[in-house]
Amino acid sequence: MVNYVLDKYDRPMKDLRISVIDQCNFRCTYCMPAEIFGDDYRFMPAKELLSFDEIVRLVEIFARFGTEKVRLTGGEPLMRKNMNQLVSRLKQIDGIRDIAITTNAVFLVKQAQKLKDAGLDRVNISLDAIEDEVFKQTNGRGIKTSPVLKGIEAARKAGLEIKINMVVKKGMNESQILPMARYFKDTGDTLRFIEFMDVGNHNGWNLETVVSKQEIVDEINQEMPLEPLDANYFGEVATRYKYKGSNAEIGIISSVTDAFCSSCTRVRLSADGKLYTCLFASEGYDIRHMLRNQMSDHEIILHLIKIWTKRDDQYSVERAQGKSQKKKIEMSYIGG
Ligand code: GTP
Ligand code: 5AD
Ligand code: SF4
Ligand code: SF4
Repeated sequence: MVNYVLDKYDRPMKDLRISVIDQCNFRCTYCMPAEIFGDDYRFMPAKELLSFDEIVRLVEIFARFGTEKVRLTGGEPLMRKNMNQLVSRLKQIDGIRDIAITTNAVFLVKQAQKLKDAGLDRVNISLDAIEDEVFKQTNGRGIKTSPVLKGIEAARKAGLEIKINMVVKKGMNESQILPMARYFKDTGDTLRFIEFMDVGNHNGWNLETVVSKQEIVDEINQEMPLEPLDANYFGEVATRYKYKGSNAEIGIISSVTDAFCSSCTRVRLSADGKLYTCLFASEGYDIRHMLRNQMSDHEIILHLIKIWTKRDDQYSVERAQGKSQKKKIEMSYIGG
């Protein structure tokens, strides 16, 4: 039987996002700027990472609280070996009905079919430009779009449900809003535009660099008229629109200009087993310590209930009221 636990704003814990590795093959300027994440940057040693056994045990516990969705993130989650084995084990857990991965798609060429066969339902693929010259800049590694487009193709061929995520930042890639919209309207994949956020401590965010949801909708609507759609599920982060006269749709993730904290059912686990109740939290709760010190499931459950029932996070709402958070976790550490 499922026992829902509610936080201070009556939000259940439904959506578990697990970072499996803090490394990435890209250096997106807004997430892992190359100047900070250089050759001498110390990523987590392997023994710090939660093992697959530990992850599976935790997901079994979370499923008893009503967690239905699991999203695997990184860094780049497909840099962790044997991810198909993890997916296959998670798929067998009672109550877990949706398993997705957020990835830059480069490793999907080799892995898409194996992941689908293991039970993966969906992939959300990050791609910030369709023109090589812009994309080479945004990914910080001079990588062209073709490896990503091939990854998308492999995912499609394998039968995975696909969404494309594009972070929009002024001065970086706003020129790509229409070219991306046109490209993915034709392929039929859902493209989501993400307002640039002040995650982490190094991405140089300020409000002037944000292209707002309204600006994005207005620009697309002028060329390709849009109509609003209802959310697919309670707490969906993206506001959905469809193109008139077509089945293709887009989404806008507007954490900055139109916060969605009131329906935030997300809980995040870092690769080294710390639990965060908000993307903008400064401290996490050490769950790995509990796992590695022979705590029983029952004891862990009591801790989780304590953590969730006192949760009052709503950073995006507070940001809009002028508050800011000094020390934040890095996006590559917690996985977006
Ligand atoms: P589905 O709707 O299940 O497909 O997934 P999703 O949109 O929740 O997951 P995805 O990893 O694609 O998220 C896209 C982006 O939305 C993330 O990279 C973040 O930039 C942003 N995002 C997701 N969840 C949150 C959240 O809880 N708070 C904030 N502020 N941003 C979020
Ligand atoms: N603002 C908005 N989205 C971000 N992502 C990473 N950093 C940021 C940021 N500063 C998104 C990526 C990807 C996911 C992992 O997080 O584009 O979709
Ligand atoms: Fe890697 Fe994704 Fe961060 Fe880019 S946004 S550096 S692809 S984790
Ligand atoms: Fe949830 Fe925090 Fe994002 Fe608000 S800012 S939606 S509370 S993760």
